[in-house]
Amino acid sequence: MKTLKGAAAGLTAAAVLLLTTACSGGAAGSGESLQHPAEECGAGRTITLALNQTEEHPSYIALDEFGNDMLVETGDWYIEVFPNETLGAQAEALQLVAAGAVDMAIVSGTQLENLNDDFVVFNLPGLFEGVEHQMEVVHDPEIVGDLYTSLEATNNVTVLGGFTQGTRSVYTTFGPAETPADMSGKKIRVQESPLHIDMARALGGSGTPMAYGELYSGLQAGVVDAAENNEVSYASQRHYEVAPYFSQTDHLVGLDYLIINTDTLNELCQEDREIFDAAWEAAYTYHQELWEEATLEAIEEAKAGGATFTEVDEEAFAEPLNALAERYIKTDSQKKLYEASRADVE
Ligand code: GCU
Repeated sequence: MKTLKGAAAGLTAAAVLLLTTACSGGAAGSGESLQHPAEECGAGRTITLALNQTEEHPSYIALDEFGNDMLVETGDWYIEVFPNETLGAQAEALQLVAAGAVDMAIVSGTQLENLNDDFVVFNLPGLFEGVEHQMEVVHDPEIVGDLYTSLEATNNVTVLGGFTQGTRSVYTTFGPAETPADMSGKKIRVQESPLHIDMARALGGSGTPMAYGELYSGLQAGVVDAAENNEVSYASQRHYEVAPYFSQTDHLVGLDYLIINTDTLNELCQEDREIFDAAWEAAYTYHQELWEEATLEAIEEAKAGGATFTEVDEEAFAEPLNALAERYIKTDSQKKLYEASRADVE
């Protein structure tokens, strides 16, 4: 295990990409989990976790607490969070976790949709009614079934659950976007996902996929004219400095996942695994508690920095956005997931 890790750490990102692509069939796993806790509780170690947010972001705060809880409760396991994409942007972090060069990462749902298209369902505008509904759905084992273990056989990655990204809206360099027509001919930065490229079209513009950390300079240089994200990211990344018009489209309740290399998870003995699961549950609960306040503070910070917030014509955006679910839900397993997620609200 340690030798393998050392070897993987020496690979370049491109080599890791090739390695993991070759190992993954591209399809969903067999549904059989590869998890098996270590029989004996050996000495723990520091687990590395890649994050693309700043140290002020609720995700960093909650994960840092997770790491400290692990150390206090086990005495030897600790999680060290590396913020600001220092271990790579999300696409790369996912590959590094698969290869075992990094143990854990927070990745947006859009990254996982490229490995198993069942994940598309949770990336759809209109699926979640709000943060509370989202957190209930994504942490309900009856709804998620074997989705979170589906990447173990193909990618050696286990999904542990999620953090909310809150509600995402459009922000622009050129003026408010009150209707999709205002976005006509404009380039919107999106995450690396076919669904979200289509979502940009539904918002009235055209989608340009780009890593999160490149977006500030992308907006500044005019590579893109707009982006879409929650208020917390808008403020913590200081995007309001280069795109000061925030139009409240509220088009998507986005989702981040906490992922872990499956071999790393299997290093934990049963007792440590129980502590780990409880500390993770405490972390996502804490994150949810922090979210609302963080959003209000972010709005104030962006306004103080010169941003304007505009309400939009919600009706005008609704129809093209709602059409996405019809286009993207094709298989029986996607339908099952969609219906189970909507069961309590319809
Ligand atoms: C949010 C989300 C990140 C994601 C980012 C993005 O900030 O929490 O995980 O990477 O949006 O738009 O890329």
